[in-house]
This record gives sequence, C-alpha cells and structure tokens, in this order.
Amino acid sequence: MTDTSADAAPGRAAARLHLDVFLTPADLRAGLEADARAGLTATPKWLPPKYFYDERGSRLFEEITRLPEYYPTRTEHAILVASSDEIAAAADAEALLELGSGSSEKTRMLLDAMTRSGGLSAYVPVDVSASALEDAMAGLRRDYPALDLHGAVADFDHHLDRLPAPGRRLVALLGGTLGNYPPERRRVFLGKLAAAMQPGESFLLGIDLVKDPDRLVAAYDDMAGVTAEFNRNVIAVLNRELDGDLLPDDFEHVALWDAEHEWIEMRLRARRPVHATLAALDLTVDLDAGEEIRTEISAKFRRERIEPELTAAGLRPERWWTDPAGDFALALARR
Ligand code: SAH
Ligand code: AVI
Repeated sequence: MTDTSADAAPGRAAARLHLDVFLTPADLRAGLEADARAGLTATPKWLPPKYFYDERGSRLFEEITRLPEYYPTRTEHAILVASSDEIAAAADAEALLELGSGSSEKTRMLLDAMTRSGGLSAYVPVDVSASALEDAMAGLRRDYPALDLHGAVADFDHHLDRLPAPGRRLVALLGGTLGNYPPERRRVFLGKLAAAMQPGESFLLGIDLVKDPDRLVAAYDDMAGVTAEFNRNVIAVLNRELDGDLLPDDFEHVALWDAEHEWIEMRLRARRPVHATLAALDLTVDLDAGEEIRTEISAKFRRERIEPELTAAGLRPERWWTDPAGDFALALARR
C-alpha cells in the first residue's frame, strides 16, 4: 500500500494512509521454519499460534468471533460500548496503536470515543497478518476519511521498539491475545512493551477472566466446528509454506481446561499414526496415534494476578472495566 491522501476537509491537511512492512512474507516463513523445526522435533510437540493467521485463518477467526459459544468478542464489544468515552478520557492520548488489530472492528468504538474527546490524530493498527491489516485499513479509510492511518505489518515479538509514535499513544491489545503467551513469554513481552512506551503513554489490555470451565471449553470447541477448522488450518500453512504432505484430516481438534494454570489449551491429536515430510526443511514428522501437538494456550485471568504482572513490567494499573457478569475485563495501565 502506498501513501495516498483522502480529500482534505477545508482547513485540515489531507489524512494520510501509510503501511510499513517490518515483517515480509520471507521473514514470516523463516520464523515458521525455525519454529516448526524446534516445535515438531520437541517432546511434546508444539507450534506457536501466530501461524494460524494466514488469509483463511484470519477469516476463520472472524467467524469464531460470531459463534454463539465464543463470548469474548461480544462481551469486550459491550464493555467498549459502555465505557469507551471513559477510556478515552482516562487515556488522554493523541494516537491509538493497536497490537494484533485483526479486523479492527471493536476498535471503532475507541476511535469514535477518542475522536469525540477531540484528541485523536492517528490510528496505528499492527498485525502479523498482512491480509487482515489491508482489509481493515481499506474499511477504515472509507469510514474515517479524516483520520491518519499508519498500519504496520509487524510481529510484536520482534518489532515493538520500531512501531510508529505519531503523538502520545494509547497502546491497545484487545481480545485476550495476551493470554496466548505462556507466562514467561508474557513477562518478556510486557517488559519490552513498557520499554518501547514513553512515560505518560497508556496501555489498554483486554483480558478474558476465569469462569465456569464448561463455558470455557465450549468457547474453544464449538458445535459448528469452526474452531476445529481454525486449529487444523496450521496444518495447511505448514504444507503450503514448507512443502509438506500432512493430511489435516489425520488430526482431531482438542480443547481442554488446565485448572492448575488456568488456561485453555488447544491441541491437534493424531487420529492414526502419521508419517509425513516437510520437504523444505528436509524433516520427517512422525506421530503415534493419539500423540498431540500443542497449538495454543489461552490463559484466563483474575484481577489480582494480572495487575501485579503489569506493575512488575513498569505499567501502573489505573482503571478496570468489566461486564456485569464479570466474564471479560479491560485494564488501563500507565507507563
Ligand atoms: N484484536 C482482534 C484480533 C484478535 S486475533 C480482536 O480482538 O478480535 C489475534 C490477532 O493477533 C490476529 O489478527 C493475528 O494475526 C495477530 N497476531 C498474532 N500473533 C501476532 C504477533 N506475534 N505479532 C503481530 N500480530 C499477531
Ligand atoms: C486471539 N485469541 C485471543 C483467541 C483466543 O481466544 O485465545 C484465539 C482463538 N483461539 C481459538 N479461538 C480463538
């Protein structure tokens, strides 16, 4: 996407549209090569969740957000409807930078509130999925013609310190995405994020809260099988990117609640013995029947657990919003 300009309103400079690419398809593939080699030769086997989100995976995730069982998106949306004006006032920011922005749908509540409060000059969506980012930016350009849009195809494991700062920022990480990090990686991520923020900037974090395990498992093992397709999509990504011959149908979707760690774990379980090859890696992948690959954790939080983690990273918790049932929360912290 190149620089373009929308029609300028009288007295206002034309809004800018810009896309930085910190992560090229070749970089993403190199990361996948390293992670697939490490994860598929480990015991137990694992793959990181960021490879779910090719074009099909991003579309499947959007379908998940509309499923009756998947409450996080609609609950976070409801909190934003009720509280975006308060959030905008508390954040007191000039720019909104969103990590893992996906479709940017819920973000519109924040953009509207920050525009109403008079301070918003730019939106910086950041995502590893170029397709999701480009689709989102096209829609935002249409609906927010006066807003500077400065997207970045980037991996927040690597590029936090290079992300645009077109004014004092509210940095948002919505949807519960922080929960997809295991604890040690979460600690490192929060530390790097705090180091990349300026004093006075704020961080808005969407987190899914601990609740009845049956509801949690249903949210990750829906009746329509969309989450199963999303999970198996990583097999299609391996085949396409690494010249593999794995059969998606050899793998059964598993979602279970780990009560000790308070996280949902998604796995792919071999329905039968698997003997496959990733030719680009010159790697054979063997699984016994019943053997599993861990593909995602989705940690659920309690306020008393996440706030000390924010504090330890150098992000001072200031506000907390939740829905009436206490299913999901938005935490605001200050650098
Ligand atoms: N924030 C949106 C989307 C959540 S899905 C919502 O709340 O609905 C998670 C998003 O994070 C996806 O769009 C995915 O492509 C992106 N993502 C996952 N890992 C990432 C990484 N390491 N760096 C950047 N984006 C990542
Ligand atoms: C992006 N992330 C917060 C989602 C979650 O709920 O952990 C990804 C997801 N996995 C299965 N369903 C949704």
